[in-house]
Amino acid sequence: MCGIVGYVGPKSTLDVLIGGLRRLEYRGYDSAGVSVISPDGHLETRKKAGKLVNLVAEIEEHPLPTAHIGIGHTRWATHGAPTDGNAHPHLGGQRQKLSLIHNGIIENFAELKAELVAEGTTFSSETDSEVAAHLIAREFEKSGDLAKAFASVVVRLHGAFTILVIHEDQPDMVLAARRNAPLVIGLGDGENFLGSDVAAFVEHTKRAISVGQDEIVILRAGSVEVRSFDGKTVQPEEFTVDWDASAASKGGWSSFMAKEIADQPQAVADTLMGRLNSDGSVRLTETDGLSHEDIKNLERIIIVACGTASYAGDIAKYGIEKWSRIPVQVELSHEFRYRDPIITKNTLIVAISQSGETMDTLMAIRYAKELGAKVLAICNTQGATLARESDAVIYTHAGPEVAVASTKALTAQITAGYLLGLWLASIRGAVPAAELKRVGIDLLKMPGRVSQVIAGLEQAQRLGTSMADAKSVLFLGRNVGFPVAMEGALKLKELAYIHAEGFAAGELKHGPIALIEEGQPVIVIVPSPRDEDSLHPKVISNIQEIRARGAKIIAIAEEGDEQVSNYAENVIFVPRCETLLAPILTVIPLQAFALALSTAKGLDVDQPRNLAKSVTVE
Ligand code: M6R
Repeated sequence: MCGIVGYVGPKSTLDVLIGGLRRLEYRGYDSAGVSVISPDGHLETRKKAGKLVNLVAEIEEHPLPTAHIGIGHTRWATHGAPTDGNAHPHLGGQRQKLSLIHNGIIENFAELKAELVAEGTTFSSETDSEVAAHLIAREFEKSGDLAKAFASVVVRLHGAFTILVIHEDQPDMVLAARRNAPLVIGLGDGENFLGSDVAAFVEHTKRAISVGQDEIVILRAGSVEVRSFDGKTVQPEEFTVDWDASAASKGGWSSFMAKEIADQPQAVADTLMGRLNSDGSVRLTETDGLSHEDIKNLERIIIVACGTASYAGDIAKYGIEKWSRIPVQVELSHEFRYRDPIITKNTLIVAISQSGETMDTLMAIRYAKELGAKVLAICNTQGATLARESDAVIYTHAGPEVAVASTKALTAQITAGYLLGLWLASIRGAVPAAELKRVGIDLLKMPGRVSQVIAGLEQAQRLGTSMADAKSVLFLGRNVGFPVAMEGALKLKELAYIHAEGFAAGELKHGPIALIEEGQPVIVIVPSPRDEDSLHPKVISNIQEIRARGAKIIAIAEEGDEQVSNYAENVIFVPRCETLLAPILTVIPLQAFALALSTAKGLDVDQPRNLAKSVTVE
């Protein structure tokens, strides 16, 4: 949470900073601010509560000088309300020559603040971040060496932080430190960049370095120095960003979410690319950290993830268990590590995260690694902390996802989960290879089917628009349809702020059916009727039970399932596929439904209230 950007070089710093913040605004939008040092050596700061547009208006009213060094911040509030005063940057020192921005939480800020207050320092915000600004300024006043002062303070901070600092008296450098929060460097020609992720600078350079845990960066226009917190020089590895700025732009779309829903055929195709042969066999190349021996010895898989990513895990579980016959449990990352889970060296942890920076998930894998487990990440962000800290990574190639509500990252995660299941199964040999290949061949057809679903979203959109006044929507599913139902409900909660819940359809009669009253909208994910053991008749019975009590049914069903039309007011059909693969298709109308309903209510679909894209605090 919080987006940070830093720049030093010949370009207009303000343009670089505002451009970067615009791309990072998905990380938090409670306030925004920038500091620059003018060519005549003066630090100037502008900050404003609310979205970035407020800061831009403030700068128009009170222009900033042309500058060639600066830092910028977009905030998701933790300590202190989203006010102008609590907005970053925070200034440090008696003459306020130092400017600091921070992403994360400084857990020991109260004791550090007490130390400063006892010395007579006055604070102008309620944030935890301001202590760091005053401490670094104080140490700099003593030593006259900014890098030294910075290094001496960051080691005193507990918790999670990426901190960027500039100072009037050393106007050629941006200092940065990273512990438990993301930081990447962008390498330019005579200019260099810092950002919470590569989106901050991808329009200027694709050469990047992911900064490691407990490292400090000294960034100048012509040089980049990385040191560990204990002062040792680090030789960082450079990588090339594999997408360009247009991928993170709205293009002609009304919202990022609308664009990202439409991106899904490509996201699924790119995630499959090079990993699935035309005969349906799987080849994963980024899994060197896991030997065939490790896989054969596996006794259990635990999938850890949060939010939408955890529903991808719930869906993948069905395929992984069925094909590989390895028991799988799915756990919310933040619950997992606090319940003394049973982990052995034959447990594989699969961590799913779009950002790769979700703190709950990072803490879960660190804990599991301490106990000897191997970790495989399913991650969408190159160089993310999760990928760096895992034994193996399957990257989802969904491209940058900017809207807070996850869409294309989810369908790419589900796809990667299926690939993982088929790959494990091919090594374990518990299921005949021909059966696995049959599924693999069907998986290859999914991008085309996703395109068909996208082309036919008008009905889901119309229904969403017509239900703008709904107070509550329930979602039902069974088997792989159950996590799809929960995801449908999450989308509606986060985007439209209305009560929504996803249930396993069989659970209704054990309590939730009491919620059904005349006119209650219920969206039901109906399984294919074609399978031998199909749950179709059972779901039809569940529909009848709630219809009899007044529910209005919207069914998501497979093409050709004519029977369902007799039991639902509306049916949205999706193409036929292997039953276990259906969530990639059935979830998409639910995304479009939530988007349309939220839009009809006049809400901001890309930046829903109280949320941030990447949750980097526990
Ligand atoms: O970056 P991650 O995939 O780890 O994020 C996990 C969740 O915070 C995320 O999926 C969240 O639930 C989405 N906003 C839901 O749309």
